[in-house]
Parts: sequence; structure tokens; C-alpha cells
Amino acid sequence: MMSHLPVPLSYEEEGQGIPLMLVHGFPLNRSIWYPLIPLLKDKARLILPDLRGHGQSPAPEGTYAMRLLAEDLHALLDKLEIDKVILAGHSMGGYASLAFAQAYPNRLAGLAMIASQAAADAPERRAGREKTAEEVHRRGLRPLAQNMAPALTCRQELVEPIRKMILKANPKAVISSLRGMAERPDASEWLADITVPAVVIAGTEDKLISLENARLMAQLLGRAWLVELPEAAHLPMMEQPQPVANALLQLIASV
Ligand code: MLT
Repeated sequence: MMSHLPVPLSYEEEGQGIPLMLVHGFPLNRSIWYPLIPLLKDKARLILPDLRGHGQSPAPEGTYAMRLLAEDLHALLDKLEIDKVILAGHSMGGYASLAFAQAYPNRLAGLAMIASQAAADAPERRAGREKTAEEVHRRGLRPLAQNMAPALTCRQELVEPIRKMILKANPKAVISSLRGMAERPDASEWLADITVPAVVIAGTEDKLISLENARLMAQLLGRAWLVELPEAAHLPMMEQPQPVANALLQLIASV
């Protein structure tokens, strides 16, 4: 049965202060944020959800539209009785955060977009996702994990842990997420309406998200600044935790 209702997300909480929700990307889970916890927990109430189909969260059937992911985050905020939150979205978690910002502007106190973008998929990327979805359907996660892990990071020692993390994903949910990302709208149009403080964090070695797209997003957002990190690729929170934490602390201070 396909449903558009939110699902109850599995999550962890750490620390005290202003609520800061850290939303991981595809096809990972909340553990990518662990390096940031000791650096932020004295300044913020950290909430680390697993997105639907990822980590320990339920994996319903159907396409995981970014708006649906946003509904899940919204339901979690309600459950925690949090009125306003700073959202820090990584990659697909950033796409979901932009969908949240459009749907629930009054619940947003600040926004961090980490290795993410507002642009929709170009047609080739969309076709590539469908190809990947079919391959995962036929062959499982091994080929995806094998190809994707080295593409995500410029730190050799992270490749194997990331490969293992991808192998823990749910194949059906991976397919659902690929299709959800492929059909996401271009969020550039509503960036100017996001008037809360925002930071765009980009690794200069990111092979999945172009620096141009990150820079453009920072320009189009109402009140954003850009942090470009050398020696970081698609996983700056694991590759360069201290500079990422510093950028988030600056965001916390400005909301
Ligand atoms: C992610 O890291 O969430 C995705 O790989 C982003 C994407 O494929 O667009």
C-alpha cells in the first residue's frame, strides 16, 4: 500500500540549546554526523533522524518524494514539541530541507545546506538514477556501494566505512529514494523566500554536486553565506568536522 502519510522516524538526540536537526543524505544514515556531536552538543540540542527507508527508520513502499521526507521531519518536530528548528541537510537531506522550507517556513529558524544544491536533475542524471535503480533491483547494493563509496570522499580511510554503510541500506528504499530525487522540482525559485540565516557548505572536491551550483544557491538564498572547504568532497562532516562545526556554530549564533 502506498501512503502519503508521514512515518515515525528513528532518531537520536544529544546536547542542549537551540534545536538543530541534522539530516543525512543518500543512501547513508544518521551516523555520518557522529564526528560533529562532541563539537556541537554544548551549543545545540542535536536531533539526528534516519530518513525513511534509511538506518533504523521504517521503509514504506512508493516513491520517496522530497516533500514526503519533509513531512516525516515535520512530524518528528511535532512529536518532540519543537516549534522552530535549524535544519542542516546533507545532499538529499538538503533537498528534503528545501522542501520543508517551502512547506513550513514558520517552523524554520535557520538552514545549512551541506554538499547539496537547489537545482533539479539534468535529464542525463535522471536517466542515470533510473539505471541505478534497475541495477539495484537486479543485483542488490554491492555494485552501488563499490562505485559510490570512492566517489563520495577524497579521504582514502573513509572509503571502506562508507562502503559498509551503503551496504547496510535497504535496497527497496534505495530505489524509492533514487526515484524521489529524480522527480524533485527545481527549488531555485523559492530560495529567495527563505529569509532565515543560512549557510552553504561545499567541499571543493565534491564530485556529485558542482561548486557552481553551491555558489548559485548561496547567492539566491535570502541571507546566506558560503563556506568552501578544500580537502573535502561529498562528506565534509566526516572529512572536515571542525570547519563544518565552526560554520554551524556561526549559524547558531546568527539565528
Ligand atoms: C546524496 O548524497 O544524498 C545524493 O547522492 C545526492 C544526489 O545524488 O543528488
